[in-house]
Amino acid sequence: MKLSHAQISFKSSGTPVADDFSDVYFLDAHGCAETDYVFIEQNDLLNRWLQFELSDSISANVFVIAETGFGSGLNFFQTLHHYSQLLEQGHTLPRLYFLSTEKFPMTMADLQQSIAVYPHLSKWVDELLPQYPMALTGCHRMHLCNGLVTLDLWLGDIHDTLPQWLNEHDGLVDAWFLDGFAPSRNPDMWNEALFTQLARLSKPNGTLSTFTAASIVKRGLVKAGYKLTKTKGFRYKREMILATFTELAIRQPTQQQHSIPYYARPAQPLLQHVTILGGGIAAGCLAYLLTQQGIEVSVHCKDAALAQGASGNDLGGFYPQLNAQASIASQVHAASFVYARRFYDALLSQGAKFGHAWCGVLQVGFNDKVQQRQQNLIDQQVWPADLIQGVSASQASEIAQVELPYPALFIEQGGWISPPQLVKAMFALAQQTGLCQINTQSTLSTDVITNITSDPSQAVIYATGAESARLAIPALPYRLVRGQVERAPASTQSTNLQTVLCHKGYFTPAVDGIHALGSTYVKDDVNCEYRPSEAQLNLAMHQQSLVECPWIQAMPLPTSGRAAIRCSTPDHLPLVGAVPDVQQQLIDFNQLYQAKPAHTYPQAQNVKGQYVLTGLGSRGLTTAPLMAQLLVSQLLGLPIPVTQTVANALNPNRFLIRDGIRRLSYLDRFTAS
Ligand SMILES: Cc1cc2nc3c(=O)[nH]c(=O)nc-3n(C[C@H](O)[C@H](O)[C@H](O)COP(=O)(O)OP(=O)(O)OC[C@H]3O[C@@H](n4cnc5c(N)ncnc54)[C@H](O)[C@@H]3O)c2cc1C
Ligand SMILES: C[S@@+](CC[C@H](N)C(=O)[O-])C[C@H]1O[C@@H](n2cnc3c(N)ncnc32)[C@H](O)[C@@H]1O
Repeated sequence: MKLSHAQISFKSSGTPVADDFSDVYFLDAHGCAETDYVFIEQNDLLNRWLQFELSDSISANVFVIAETGFGSGLNFFQTLHHYSQLLEQGHTLPRLYFLSTEKFPMTMADLQQSIAVYPHLSKWVDELLPQYPMALTGCHRMHLCNGLVTLDLWLGDIHDTLPQWLNEHDGLVDAWFLDGFAPSRNPDMWNEALFTQLARLSKPNGTLSTFTAASIVKRGLVKAGYKLTKTKGFRYKREMILATFTELAIRQPTQQQHSIPYYARPAQPLLQHVTILGGGIAAGCLAYLLTQQGIEVSVHCKDAALAQGASGNDLGGFYPQLNAQASIASQVHAASFVYARRFYDALLSQGAKFGHAWCGVLQVGFNDKVQQRQQNLIDQQVWPADLIQGVSASQASEIAQVELPYPALFIEQGGWISPPQLVKAMFALAQQTGLCQINTQSTLSTDVITNITSDPSQAVIYATGAESARLAIPALPYRLVRGQVERAPASTQSTNLQTVLCHKGYFTPAVDGIHALGSTYVKDDVNCEYRPSEAQLNLAMHQQSLVECPWIQAMPLPTSGRAAIRCSTPDHLPLVGAVPDVQQQLIDFNQLYQAKPAHTYPQAQNVKGQYVLTGLGSRGLTTAPLMAQLLVSQLLGLPIPVTQTVANALNPNRFLIRDGIRRLSYLDRFTAS
């Protein structure tokens, strides 16, 4: 959902002031010194990094800092400055995860101006700015310092964001930077709910420091289980708070229960090697992200070449599907889209070559009903304009550069991508690490998979698209839908099209004289032959929707194209996570309808070492990168880049759980179809 930006004034010294709180973001001329003293020195960060015992476990080699109030990012940039200096001195350090929260994000311009007074930080500001998120609630994951540093910026009220952080391993945070304006000026933030969350998320012996010495903060921290150490405050301040989380026993049962046990997301702390079955966009994202983390990957793709399944279409539209309300599905799409755009830009900056254009996507309001729906989305103001905005018919024609007499929704950061080129580029980057081996015309039997996964340092991921339904993955409710896209030769008029159009179908700008015109939607048909009858349907769908566009009425019937199978699910969300042990979970969760407190149920049992990433449906270009990032983070026991609610909504066992709650018979889903 959309957030408001911070209202900032600048003092003559250049220090930013938040108008709504009448408080400064950092002290005049002493901002970095205060960060050093209050947060970096008191948490003893440099020594803790230098003395960090690096192990064979990739997931254990991570240091997590969490901050309340990202503001100008000064604390983050200054932390990065020290971290990179140690790296330059030749030290081997743990990877850094910096999780921050912000309810009123600064605009990019205000952030830039705020930090400009500290030129030694400009390098990091320059690295962050191209990734800096729009004012959209949720987690925005960014990577800096050659991938050694991950910034998770959680936008939204801290009382909404912190309870959504997944903490499955008895502690997430090594050191808290408790910032935020003075408690007297921001009492809504500094309350018991905040202290409870700090304790819920702290690692045993995790530390916390804050500039304030307000008694409400001291009392709250002690009550939540922290041991305080009296410390001199910065400069003229008499006192500040330094605290250590030691009182594990004080955690309430609800605090100890870090997540809902039947949606548990198991990690493999000893993981060294992952076998991926697949060769499409899901497999490509996984191979790239896993090798970036130093994990060895073996890919088995059943086809003679990569990207022969759904990811083999020449061109695909890149955009999210958003409703007027921020439903879970819309949240998944919005978060996936902004992450994917950042992910693709990062691939490009690493030299990846794949056909694409960030030419925007117009969702055309081609009839009254659609126009009303679109107007409702605009009126609800749920989404930031940089994500989606309403445009008039004349603006739409101006953007499209063809006659388009319909109002529309414009997704400026969208566009089109060549999926097979993208897939190959991701695998090429994975191979460049020396950690990725690709086997085409290859698959693995169930016995081999079971054998591989008996070793806790190994895991197998099914990224098998529509074929997942035929494999030995225990019953998951797939929906298979055939689709055909046409290769439509451009006419003198259509060749001017400069943006992707979508309505019932989609139509891309011409690339090498050919538009992608798609696509049909034929349920439960898994035949991939090209059908001239569907070409007629495709063209007719466009001509009937865009009835007032003479240029599309003049398009000749395409004679070539490609058909493939989408793998979807009943709720249209991907399947991301451990393969459930269905028989066991049906036994363990057959009383869910009794609605006892969640923590009274056992942890979900899964098939050892086996995971799945599929169900990307019609929007794999949008969802695959974040879904892969989620699965890789889960496997390695790293901070999760989505809310608990979203993670639960993507868990492959969710249909079984929902059926249990409604007292329905899960397996009937399969015998019925
Ligand atoms: C007609 C059509 C149009 C589409 N248009 C768009 C669009 O405009 N925008 C968009 O974002 N998305 C679009 N999609 C959806 C998108 O293409 C998919 O969501 C995405 O490609 C799915 O990727 P995947 O990796 O999950 O599956 P796939 O690309 O199908 O890959 C599955 C892979 O698994 C391999 N495999 C299968 N079984 C085995 C096995 N037993 N062992 C080893 N390997 C195996 C296959 O060889 C294949 O490489 C469209 C889909 C279709 C069909
Ligand atoms: C003193 S500033 C933080 C300075 C920041 N750490 C820096 O390095 O620039 C406090 C921040 O907390 C944010 N904030 C205040 N109340 C909040 C809340 N309830 N939830 C999330 N962020 C909040 C403010 O918008 C502001 O950016």
